[in-house]
Amino acid sequence: MTQKEINIRYSEYASLSELEPADRALAEAAIDAMKGSYAPYSHFNVGAAIRLKGGIVVQGANQENAAFPSGLCAERTAMFSAGAAHPDKAMESIAIAGGVMGRLAQEPATPCGACRQVMAQYQTKSGVPMSIIMVGAKRIWKFERVDDILPLIFDSI
Ligand code: THU
Repeated sequence: MTQKEINIRYSEYASLSELEPADRALAEAAIDAMKGSYAPYSHFNVGAAIRLKGGIVVQGANQENAAFPSGLCAERTAMFSAGAAHPDKAMESIAIAGGVMGRLAQEPATPCGACRQVMAQYQTKSGVPMSIIMVGAKRIWKFERVDDILPLIFDSI
C-alpha cells in the first residue's frame, strides 16, 4: 500500500484591487449579477460571470422555484446561457459572488458539486483551463483550473 496526497494550489487576494484588471472586471460582473437573483425561498443571492475567449462576458444568477429541484444555481445558469449562445467559445474564467439579501458575503462563494461537474465538462469540451474566482468581501480566491476544485474529475463517457 502507498499513501498518496493531492495538493491544491490557489491564490488569495485581500481585495478586488489586487486582482489583474480582467479578473477584477469579472469579479465585479459577478457581484453585479447578484441583482438578477430570484431567491424567494433561501434569500441567498448568487451571481456568476463568465469570460469567454475573445472577451465576451456572460452573467447568471440563481433562480429558485416552488418545485425546489426546478431551480438552478447562478453558475449553471451562466454556463448554460454561455454554452447555448456561444457554443464555440471557450469559457476561460468564471467568477462567483453570493450573499444574503443582496449583500456580498464576507467569505468567498464556493460552488456546489453539481456546478463543479458542469464546469469540468465545459473545460474538457474546450480544452482550455477554466479559472474560478470566488469572491468575498474579506478575501477572494482564484483557482487556475477546474481540476483544482474537483480532483479526480469524472469524464469517462
Ligand atoms: N446556489 C448557487 O447559486 N450557487 C452555488 O454554488 C450554491 C448555491 C444557490 C442555490 C439556491 O438558490 C441558493 O443558492 C441556496 O442554496
